[in-house]
Amino acid sequence: MAMDYSDKVIDHYTHPRNTGVIENPSGEGTVGNPVCGDIMTIYIDVDENEKLTDVKFSTFGCGAAIATSSMITEMAIGMSVEEAYQITRNDVADELDGLPPIKLHCSNLAADALQAAIDNYREKNNK
Ligand code: FES
Repeated sequence: MAMDYSDKVIDHYTHPRNTGVIENPSGEGTVGNPVCGDIMTIYIDVDENEKLTDVKFSTFGCGAAIATSSMITEMAIGMSVEEAYQITRNDVADELDGLPPIKLHCSNLAADALQAAIDNYREKNNK
């Protein structure tokens, strides 16, 4: 039985936005998914007004992980660090018009890695 993915999930999976690495990022965070063992890294650039000017991701995760990270980069770019830190996996899943329940754990990766990248940025800058 094919899984029930929304058009938005399929779009972000087949055309992921903001993939790759930021050299000398303001912060970066890597998390592993204990359920499946997949890994996700998110890189952020922050300007002097505490706004995210660039967010990129690289992952060994599945299609749902790719779609959720692609979506979270689009959501986070232009947000303040504070706002981006509040994005939850449910926000990302909603923005994608839902994920199959069996794939919800995959969306943890994107939100957790973004928070880890912001933690790293704050540590580096003593915030
Ligand atoms: Fe590993 Fe989705 S199955 S992130």
